[in-house]
Amino acid sequence: MLSWKIVAFASLCITCEKASAFSSSSPSRLSETSSSALHSTPESLIVDKSQGKKKWFPTKAQDALFTQYDTLVRGAFVRHVLLETEEMGDIAMKTYLRGDISGLDENDKLDPFGKLARDISACSKSREEAGKIGWIDNPFHPSNLGKPMINEVVSELISPKVIEDLFKARPKGGDVLKIGDSDGDKFHLCRIDDLLLDYVNQEKSKEDMEIQDSTLQFKQRGVNKVITDRSKLKGLGITPVAPKISELANDDESDENVAKSYHIATSGCQMNVADSERLAGVLENNLKLQIAEKPGNADVVILNTCSIRDHAEQKVYDALGPFAARKRRGEPLALIVSGCVAQQEGEALLKRVPEVDLVMGPQYVSRLGDLLDDVSRGHQVVATDPTLLSEDLSRPVRGHDMRAWVNVINGCNEHCTYCVVPGVRGVEQSRPMESILKECMELAEAGYKEITLLGQNIDAYGRDLSPKRTFADLLHYLNDAIPDDTIQRIRYVTSHPRYFSDRVIEAVATLDKVCECFHMPFQAGDDEVLKNMRRGYTFDSYMKIINKIKEQSPDASICGDVIVGFPGETEEQFQRTLDLMNEVKFDNLNTFAYSPRPNTEAAVWKDKQIPEDVKAERLQRVQRLAAQHGMERSQRYVGKTVEVLVEDRNPRNADQVMGRTRQNRQVFFDGNIDELKGKLVDVDIIEARTWSLVGQLR
Ligand code: 5AD
Ligand code: SF4
Repeated sequence: MLSWKIVAFASLCITCEKASAFSSSSPSRLSETSSSALHSTPESLIVDKSQGKKKWFPTKAQDALFTQYDTLVRGAFVRHVLLETEEMGDIAMKTYLRGDISGLDENDKLDPFGKLARDISACSKSREEAGKIGWIDNPFHPSNLGKPMINEVVSELISPKVIEDLFKARPKGGDVLKIGDSDGDKFHLCRIDDLLLDYVNQEKSKEDMEIQDSTLQFKQRGVNKVITDRSKLKGLGITPVAPKISELANDDESDENVAKSYHIATSGCQMNVADSERLAGVLENNLKLQIAEKPGNADVVILNTCSIRDHAEQKVYDALGPFAARKRRGEPLALIVSGCVAQQEGEALLKRVPEVDLVMGPQYVSRLGDLLDDVSRGHQVVATDPTLLSEDLSRPVRGHDMRAWVNVINGCNEHCTYCVVPGVRGVEQSRPMESILKECMELAEAGYKEITLLGQNIDAYGRDLSPKRTFADLLHYLNDAIPDDTIQRIRYVTSHPRYFSDRVIEAVATLDKVCECFHMPFQAGDDEVLKNMRRGYTFDSYMKIINKIKEQSPDASICGDVIVGFPGETEEQFQRTLDLMNEVKFDNLNTFAYSPRPNTEAAVWKDKQIPEDVKAERLQRVQRLAAQHGMERSQRYVGKTVEVLVEDRNPRNADQVMGRTRQNRQVFFDGNIDELKGKLVDVDIIEARTWSLVGQLR
């Protein structure tokens, strides 16, 4: 049987009924005229997407994802604004695009599209419901081809032609498109609230396979697979057992085979930490599991792996050992490898460690529930195929109760020659602004005081959305919509000097919640090395950005990342890195020795690799200089009073608390954490340390 799963996308839609309702009732059907899987995007929509501005061309990988669109997307939850003329359509689109929410009330800020529908839509049937049409089938999805009819409710609101054009544009969650009706004088602004996505399942019957020829092509690239025979283990006389996964697991105490507890081991960057929080959210909130007291006893074990700098693969194989042994002893256990190593190794990981039940890439985090469902039926699953990302229906289990990570853009379209990220996290996919705001409002309600927006290349935010948005737009939108007495500080990482815009500098300088803290990796100071890294900027253009920041936000902190010993880097070129550091004087610097990573270009420049001892020596030199600058930057605070957001007890001194300045410098001072946690307080700085400050509460 074809397995298809439901995923809510921009779940903020106030009129959107529960996604699961769709699974029980038959979706609407389109007329036969729409049954062509081969199509191209109509010109009008190309223009619409770019809003007449300089076009952003998606990478080949992005194109590849979109050629699979029709096998992935089964349907969409759509709202619309009906307009009598194209001119009105353009004006409405511009109004929506302007994103000016300053005059709106709180609910409308979360849903400006709904407000537009109520205010101006000519469709009396949908207007009062914020433009709601409902679930619509993708006419080009293989299972919908040739299905004749369109559901009556939908057909009163929208014509088959509009539906066809909408899906031809391959919209993602949150996209708003302007589409003309067949009579040419009515126009719809259509917003995609949710997408209904398939994930490809090898269990399909032969008939299914024949119908879904395009899906087959998708699968033949050796991707998402459900493997049913587990022959290698069975050959050893072992029948692996997976626990049953039940939403009622905790009510079913008597059943030994029902999973009750989980353990997640996380390595790597903030993005991985944020992914683990979301994985835990699915396990706790949807599947009702609890964190295991002892990792060794957990029923579901996830190793969430990172391979950005380490030789992580071997570590993962080592870490799997004890869990694989439990599986061989016949214990019911779901053993999962997620993250970058999972994506890189894919099926090879299952071949090497057949005890593993599920290998899932970072793009599948929100689909853990679906995947575990397959695992609990005894299958091995590989989910590493590129896919469209979906919004979570579950709340993440956050690691901190005051500061939280919020993903705004996933993936990366850059091709820095040292970096594994584009290969493992896939192409850029921005979340709709309204979904990001909704998550922030939930955090605000739960008492969070600080959020950090996350993206590998956050300056690329919004260029894949329709209509396009920019990262500066997002900062303005969030700063404006988040109530003042809730989240006090908005931070973000990571900027890319190639795409960083003046509007972001201006936003940081003017918006009250956005902190004056720039994380701007430079990686190297020499232009030739930067070119070999394919970074797209030079020493001078990087310094231009830094100087603009210093002009507009003289108090801002500037942090960076640097790699030493990149293939071919000479001593003279390395000196340029030191020169750049001396010009900028970073508040904080993350320093790395180049590490050749799998499937990256620079890893195979054989005769150019720098000996380990040279890299180590250069690393020491940058670290010494970075510490000197760190101290200089700390000293500027001595004798001043700074605003500190108190976070935690000082782990080394129970009578002290730790907080941060807006510039993200840690400050330690005497105080009672129970009284001060989450408060903004004034602190007099009395001592500078290299990376932190010591102060006295005012
Ligand atoms: N070797 C060393 N450092 C790396 N980084 C990324 N890839 C590598 C690599 N192959 C560093 C970069 C990046 C940070 C997240 O990790 O400095 O900005
Ligand atoms: Fe990697 Fe960052 Fe370059 Fe993207 S921009 S490839 S994440 S270093």
